[in-house]
Amino acid sequence: MPRGYFITFEGLDGSGKTTQIRRLATTLEAEGHTVVTLRNPGGTALGDRIRSILLDSKSEAALGPIAPAAEMALMFADRAQSIAEIVLPALAAGSIVLCDRYTDSSEAYQGGGRQLGSARVLALHNAVCGSLQPDLTLLLLPPLEASLIRARRRNHRHTQTQGTDENRFEREPDEFYHRIYDAYARIAERDAARVVTIAHDHGIEEIQQIIHHIVTQKIPAHNQQPC
Ligand code: TYD
Repeated sequence: MPRGYFITFEGLDGSGKTTQIRRLATTLEAEGHTVVTLRNPGGTALGDRIRSILLDSKSEAALGPIAPAAEMALMFADRAQSIAEIVLPALAAGSIVLCDRYTDSSEAYQGGGRQLGSARVLALHNAVCGSLQPDLTLLLLPPLEASLIRARRRNHRHTQTQGTDENRFEREPDEFYHRIYDAYARIAERDAARVVTIAHDHGIEEIQQIIHHIVTQKIPAHNQQPC
């Protein structure tokens, strides 16, 4: 059975990943592909529990401060479950998997933001995810200030309209996000064959077209490789 194609989306909070994933999934399905979408953390029953611990800004009132290494390990526990439950079966069935965040997020947020360093994150990736690397990573990296404003506005809106409070990361100071931004830029430089960076703050439609163009160029090339 042919292996599917694994695409991850990365970027700062508020970079517009989620909208773009939804749009790309709709387009690819209309073209006849089978598409499976998921997000890290979350997407499995275990992962949804982990997500609420990690993202809810009230968690630390109940649990005490979450140590950066514990945060990293929980991100990978979630990832291990989603790989086993969703990603590997979907790839084995030949689907295109669109994943909202993956190990690059851990390297950027825990390695960079929390200053654990890339080496620890990548060691854990090797232990937990083995050789499962994305075929393609789309990194949405518009200027930092615009992302921060959007993320803070969005989370305020979510808290008010849906009663969900996923603000634990968004409450971090700007320096935290500067470190994440720099870590993403380093990952893109290091893994240039895998990571395509979209750095301009274009409108939603234009980014959608850019992403579709990149993906349609990559997928036929992948399908021609021997399985
Ligand atoms: P999410 O709602 O998926 O991101 P976005 O705000 O971009 O829609 O929130 C996930 C949060 O978890 C986000 O702040 C990044 C953080 N995160 C990490 O710190 N490490 C990780 O490994 C992952 C997957 C996410």
